[in-house]
Amino acid sequence: MDKNKLVFSGVQPTGNLHLGNYLGALKNFVTLQKQTKCIYCVVDLHAITVFQDPNELKNNILETTAGFLATGLDSKKSIIFNQSSVSGHAELAWIFNCIARVGWLNRMTQFKDKAGKDKEKASVGLYIYPNLMAADILLYKATHVPVGADQKQHLELCRDIAQKFNTDFKKNIFPIPEPLIQKNISRVMSLRDGTKKMSKSDESGYSRIDLKDSADDIIKKIKKAKSDSSFIPDNLKDLEKKPEALNLISIYSDLLEISLEQVINEVKGKDYSYLKNKLSEVLIEIICPIGKEIKNLLEDKNYLEKVLKEGTEKARILAVDNLKEVRNVVGFI
Ligand code: TYM
Repeated sequence: MDKNKLVFSGVQPTGNLHLGNYLGALKNFVTLQKQTKCIYCVVDLHAITVFQDPNELKNNILETTAGFLATGLDSKKSIIFNQSSVSGHAELAWIFNCIARVGWLNRMTQFKDKAGKDKEKASVGLYIYPNLMAADILLYKATHVPVGADQKQHLELCRDIAQKFNTDFKKNIFPIPEPLIQKNISRVMSLRDGTKKMSKSDESGYSRIDLKDSADDIIKKIKKAKSDSSFIPDNLKDLEKKPEALNLISIYSDLLEISLEQVINEVKGKDYSYLKNKLSEVLIEIICPIGKEIKNLLEDKNYLEKVLKEGTEKARILAVDNLKEVRNVVGFI
């Protein structure tokens, strides 16, 4: 166990967890839990940057917690809690609102994507969301942050904020956190459009595999996944010209933990239905037990609330200490 390494990551409770969350983030969370101290947060303050029905939000917080546990996180080893129950996140975010520059936030592509054409109508929270994300990480002085590639720009902003804070106050308060992004499959793409990432907000359920999907759902969705009628190429260069095919092969290779080359060797020259059958089998074997466990855990909401409460107590202790130091450096009495 590396004592100098502290991992932090967060997942928004805004609907079903999907295969992108699993391969891009959760799977890595579990691996890291075996190596070092980790803090995993259900980021409910982030969720409300877009309106959430309060009852649905409550359910989604518990469901995301269930997803953490069902994929293999252990609340005895890692700190698992929800963001809004530790007020230090919002407090440090305010300080970072005064450190980050407007120009830095204007460059955030995710705000542009999420706000869409009518930016004037987006919430202010959505705009300053990356400052809150920096506060999440730096409140604990985390050194490593496992995320999918879509979060890379936000992490660069977090590093800039840490650096500017340390420079402005001439004190080395914050570490400069390192992103941990999966090499093989940092961005799982939509099953319907290989140029778009798999996402909770995509209107078509056929674009993604949800962790709670049944075996039948998985077979149907993979069968309908976009591909073509030609044969599977025998090299990566040709495969890269077919983003949907490359996505299916990348998912298969990541689930089986074998290289892309090995998969290409197995499936080259065959038609896509061969690959799709194989992929469905592996997905059913790995994803269905997770979905079943999520459903089981949701039967006992008191237990899930207890996990969050215990995690909150542990997180709060770390947050209070660090925030005290920050307040002192800033000059608050
Ligand atoms: P969120 O809730 O959108 O996603 C949770 C995690 O899943 C990853 N992910 C993907 N990875 C690969 N392919 C995909 N299609 C895919 N879709 C989602 C995300 O990269 C993320 O790692 N802003 C963050 C939550 C957050 C956070 C933090 C993360 C808030 N504070 C501090 C790290 C540290 C978000 O919206 O993730």
